Amino acid sequence: MCGIVGYIGSKNCVPILIDGLKRLEYRGYDSAGVGILDGGDAKIAKYAGKVAVLEDNIARMKMDSEIGIGHTRWATHGEPNQVNAHPHFNSDETIMIIHNGIIENYSDLKIMLEKEGYNFRSETDTEVLVNLIDKYFKLGNSLFEAVRRALKKVNGAYGIAVIAVNEPDKIIVAKNGSPLVIGVGENENFIASDVTPLIPYTRDVVYLEDGEIAEIKKDSFSVRSISNKILSKTIESVEMDVDEISKGSYPHYMLKEIMEQPESVKNSLRGRIIHEEGLSKLGGLIGFEERIANSKRIIISACGTSWHAGLVGEYMIEQYAGIPVEVEYASEFRYREPILCKDDTVIFISQSGETADTLAAMKEAKRRNALVLGVCNVVGSSIARLSDAGVYIHAGPEIGVASTKAFTSQLTVLALITLMIARRKRMSSVKGREISEALLQIPDRMKEILKLNDEIEKIAEEFVDAKNFLYLGRGFNFPVALEGALKLKEISYIHAEGYPAAEMKHGPIALIDENMPAVFIAPHDAIYDKVLSNIEEVKARKGKVITIANESNGKISELSDFIIKIPKTINMLTPILTVIPLQLLAYHIAVKKGLNVDQPRNLAKSVTVE
Ligand code: M6R
Repeated sequence: MCGIVGYIGSKNCVPILIDGLKRLEYRGYDSAGVGILDGGDAKIAKYAGKVAVLEDNIARMKMDSEIGIGHTRWATHGEPNQVNAHPHFNSDETIMIIHNGIIENYSDLKIMLEKEGYNFRSETDTEVLVNLIDKYFKLGNSLFEAVRRALKKVNGAYGIAVIAVNEPDKIIVAKNGSPLVIGVGENENFIASDVTPLIPYTRDVVYLEDGEIAEIKKDSFSVRSISNKILSKTIESVEMDVDEISKGSYPHYMLKEIMEQPESVKNSLRGRIIHEEGLSKLGGLIGFEERIANSKRIIISACGTSWHAGLVGEYMIEQYAGIPVEVEYASEFRYREPILCKDDTVIFISQSGETADTLAAMKEAKRRNALVLGVCNVVGSSIARLSDAGVYIHAGPEIGVASTKAFTSQLTVLALITLMIARRKRMSSVKGREISEALLQIPDRMKEILKLNDEIEKIAEEFVDAKNFLYLGRGFNFPVALEGALKLKEISYIHAEGYPAAEMKHGPIALIDENMPAVFIAPHDAIYDKVLSNIEEVKARKGKVITIANESNGKISELSDFIIKIPKTINMLTPILTVIPLQLLAYHIAVKKGLNVDQPRNLAKSVTVE
């Protein structure tokens, strides 16, 4: 979703803004722009398309200033063209704004402003907000006060940054629902929608909370609540290397992140297993273990890939800890009347920690007094900060829009949480050790699978022109079927469906013919023979079968057109392995189709609007 960056200091801000926007490209966007103050003038450059287009055009302009703001827009109100791109000016081009989020009451505000003589160039809600700020500024308020008063009239989500010709020594920023972070430098300060653009310049950051508004100058910053109370904020230090957010020698972030999985899972496990006792130790849950283990019910809520991880978590926790688990889309959870009580634990899973639906569902669960846990990747993210307790997955920055290493780390952490609960309840130390040992072996097993990359690329070659795909799995691997289908859809734009393998005969079997590839996830588990029967059913109808299996001979080889043979692990951990060939298959098909795998069309990395 939209990316925000800003600079105030003694350097020319333009290269800093462009560099920042490039680092925000992974969030997904369709136009980009920068705005600066130049003496008594304000200048904006903005274009539909990629940051590179903006950069090329700026190179031909005279843009040099010590204060500026930049934006990548993911269209919500109005198509992705130059006029709708940010920054937006007020009517007389003296104030400019960039905005991430949605102003829900913008049409009422627009009608009111039109009656007062304001004209609008774009179709955006953002242009309404900047003119509302203008209205209060013209009443004699400071820029800070004008922004504060305008925001009091606004319903919806926003992360904004505002600069004005008449107060050229400051950037005003505010947050409600969309992330905003201040980067604190020496004699210079930065703003951004996440820390990635800040890392080359500073590690000291201040996260704004909802309902906060800040005035940022070159050598100071101050934060107030929207009700004008002075707030004291803590400067936090971010641990992240520039290397972690670059592609290195890989052609795409997605491939780099797939290949990093042995390391990212190792990081998810680091220091969290006491193998001799078959226990897991999760620092972020200390003090909450009993309450979690005594929960009458656990609800897992998330979106997209994180929701798929939650489904695997359901199988893990119910089987080993014996607590009933429900998994719900965050977007549904937030808009019904969920029955929750204080004996319930709700686990919210989110890579970004900023997903608007998950965040809103979390607030709802808190309001209803359930214990709220966060399983997040991005340190300091809104979901991580709002939870009562939680576990970071430590996968490292995930830049590719299609989630890969975050998924396997989420599964790893869910296995650790399962172990923590189950050992407090009914699991023996012997069983605990079996799980902890299997977990510790996972990174090496992953390395073996990644060696199959070339083989999987060859299989991908055969399916570049496929129009549809079915993904089928059972038990722990039913959610992996959903995840495999999502990966393919997202980056190759091939229609794909995931199903529990046995459900196929209740409908989807009608789709099977010689043009329908079916991917079976069939590790050698308790229901292996049943899955073999499901494969037979596809073969009998001339479907093309690709199988992820632990063996490549016998019956399964007769039935499969292609077999990807992966190493064994215990049942509950198979999804951490079986998903890797599916990630690679989707990746190679998309690359062979010539598509932009890291920034697929219409998608955003962090979905910060409803
Ligand atoms: O950051 P989150 O985990 O909360 O994001 C949830 C989904 O938006 C995300 O998993 C999405 O489905 C990915 N594009 C999947 O690859």
